[in-house]
Amino acid sequence: MSTTMHQHGGIGESIKRKEDARFLRGKGNYIDDLTLPGMLHMAILRSPHAHARIKSVDTSAAAAKPGVIAVVTGELMAQHKLAWMPTLSYDTQAVLATDKVRFQGQEVAAVVAETKYQAEDARDAIVVDYEILPAVISPDGAKAEGAPVIRNEKEGQKDNHIYHWESGDQAKTQAAFAKAHKVVRLHTFYPRCHPAPLETCGCVADVNPATGKATIYMTSQAPHAIRTVFALVTGLPEQNIRVVSPDIGGGFGNKVPVYPGYVVATAASLLIGRPVKWIEDRSENLISTGFARDFHMTGDLAVDEKGKITALRAHLDSDNGAFFSDAQPSKFKAGLFHIVTGSYDIPTAHITADGYYTNKAPGGVAYRCSFRVTEASYLIERLVTNAALELGLDQAEFRMNNFIQPEQFPYTSATGWIYDSGDYPKAMQVALDKLGYEELRKDAEARRKKGEVTGIGIASFTEVVGAGHGADFDILGLRMFDSAELRVHPTGKAMLRMGTKSQGQGHETTFAQIVAEELGIPAADVAVEEGDTDTAPYGLGTYASRSTPVAGAATAMVSRKLRDKARKLAAHLLEAAEEDLTWERGKFYVKGSPDRAKTIQEIAFAAYTNLPEGMEAGLEGVHYYDPPNMTYPFGTYAVVVDIDKGTGQVKVKRMVAVDDCGVRINPMIVEGQIHGGLTEGFGIAFMELITFDSDGNCIGSNFMDYLIPTAWETPKFEIGETVTPSPHHPLGAKGVGESATVGSPAAYVNAVIDALSPYGITNIDMPVTSDKVWAALRSKGVTE
Ligand code: CDP
Repeated sequence: MSTTMHQHGGIGESIKRKEDARFLRGKGNYIDDLTLPGMLHMAILRSPHAHARIKSVDTSAAAAKPGVIAVVTGELMAQHKLAWMPTLSYDTQAVLATDKVRFQGQEVAAVVAETKYQAEDARDAIVVDYEILPAVISPDGAKAEGAPVIRNEKEGQKDNHIYHWESGDQAKTQAAFAKAHKVVRLHTFYPRCHPAPLETCGCVADVNPATGKATIYMTSQAPHAIRTVFALVTGLPEQNIRVVSPDIGGGFGNKVPVYPGYVVATAASLLIGRPVKWIEDRSENLISTGFARDFHMTGDLAVDEKGKITALRAHLDSDNGAFFSDAQPSKFKAGLFHIVTGSYDIPTAHITADGYYTNKAPGGVAYRCSFRVTEASYLIERLVTNAALELGLDQAEFRMNNFIQPEQFPYTSATGWIYDSGDYPKAMQVALDKLGYEELRKDAEARRKKGEVTGIGIASFTEVVGAGHGADFDILGLRMFDSAELRVHPTGKAMLRMGTKSQGQGHETTFAQIVAEELGIPAADVAVEEGDTDTAPYGLGTYASRSTPVAGAATAMVSRKLRDKARKLAAHLLEAAEEDLTWERGKFYVKGSPDRAKTIQEIAFAAYTNLPEGMEAGLEGVHYYDPPNMTYPFGTYAVVVDIDKGTGQVKVKRMVAVDDCGVRINPMIVEGQIHGGLTEGFGIAFMELITFDSDGNCIGSNFMDYLIPTAWETPKFEIGETVTPSPHHPLGAKGVGESATVGSPAAYVNAVIDALSPYGITNIDMPVTSDKVWAALRSKGVTE
């Protein structure tokens, strides 16, 4: 069979996304599209208060409403030992509150009824008597003398402190600071923001009373892990639990945790014996499910007379909300904040972190981020720009002077992490050239002389993605490997099943491309299936840009396993020795006789029809891949802004993004990922904020208050690339999904601070809204 390069769809080809055929036609299959016979609907009653004791819950009026089948309370859940559940960080979280409510929006009771509207009407008839308690809304509040103990139900918990964590060498770092020529300090707050996927969370729980089989269709980025957690929490045998994640309309970390709604719907279906659907509305999603960030950070950089960074120290206070449910590998209390030394050859560092309970929704999800990498990247990139500005040095030159050099890889950072590969000066140079940096700098100086406010911001981020090496990375003890199972049918078409779960990243296309490259079957002939725990091999799911580094590697490895068997089959068919065969994508031929060849399709047919004596039939296999290390994608982002002195409005005039994610499987999809990430980074930098009033009321509970960017606000992106393969990944690929969300906020804010630096303004916390910029300028006497 002859195919052109384009038809084949191997690595490096920008073939169109297979899944878009159904998405563009509105034929995606999302949770809310699912209707099962006899299905009931569930609505959740949430707390209006941030902190209050529950004196009583009266469900009588609700139970009497039309269509109501059941009213579920915390007390009822407690009778089944399900009032509390474990979190991903070894804490506990209330499923339905029994003693107290600890954040506004917390789940208190649920109504199951024949229709959604009946369920919602009856929910509003539940009467709860609360005794309001003082609310804690920040780590400072949590530490304050006499602060109420939010988690008083926990044995031994006397205050609101959750954890203390440290990394690096304190003595060496102190010594370096003692000798520093200049110390640059930055206090900054990475505010609470929300992944806000287009599709909210939800599920349809269907527990079959006859078979005992629980099928839970749900919006989960990690269906296998959820199945195991469900088995442990409910006591149901794991083989009787099937979690199915159908099409998912965006996750960004929001769909990693187990939410109370999933547990209550499953318990209700179990008790009632009918399927139960629960779908959040937008406000429920924004106020109660996994938020991100909420990190208060102080960083210091020590710099010598030659402009070399000699040490970094940082302290973080993390606001974890009412339950410590950060989705992160067990070992790392403060996530992967270790990457805080960034792209720079910093000889020593010391980081400390403390986590606190507050009366806010739990979360700390890695919103398009590998477990706090975003906060780390933001801190170092903001610090580096501030250091350059304070020392009167050029931001780009200061970075070039401090970068880890290409020949230093593999590089061990001051916090002990081994960076796999990188060429930071090259990525920076490509970005500067694309931007026309020298000219722009001169232009900015000239315009500043005329009184204009203009700036250029740079961020040369490095990341750590692809969790992870199983010995170091686990979620609740489950090692973070991933898997691929490949089955080639007699006609040479294939089915690839994965332990990951796409939420829009294009896995059906890119993983088929890996098979196309490695086994020679055109991508169009490889169906990719994810998200059904009854059929897919066990995996830890899709988040933190881990799919390509881990499951992508598993796909390459399983394809190679099948290719080894295909070689034996080809040798049999060609009556040649295995070592005399040459592989060329899609076929084996006898060395020196390209005409004596067997295509992979002919070989697949033989696997079922014409086998050598003693060989097992079929052409299929599975591979569980445990990566030897993480991958470290990187890049340089550069932003040009103009600021209106009269209004404080920031106009992003240029945004140049140069990314290096090693070998690109599908360059078009990679670019799409970068565009999406830059847009989210823009939203975080300038618009998005979940904040709270002093009583703990959540402000930002809808898209009128929580502003996400549209095409109207979003700047035009100019994209560039360099390619530095990962030495340990079988394809040389690194993850990319989160890079732009991680790297871009600092670039946007650095541009604003560069513009405002002539006025002595050194920081504005995100979101950098025009009122904050206006006030900062006014505080420096700028009145125009
Ligand atoms: O885990 P997640 O899918 O969110 O992140 P990822 O591994 O960074 O992949 C995002 C999308 O970009 C997937 O479709 C990948 O296959 C694709 N990608 C690629 O084509 N080449 C890379 N080097 C990295 C990702």
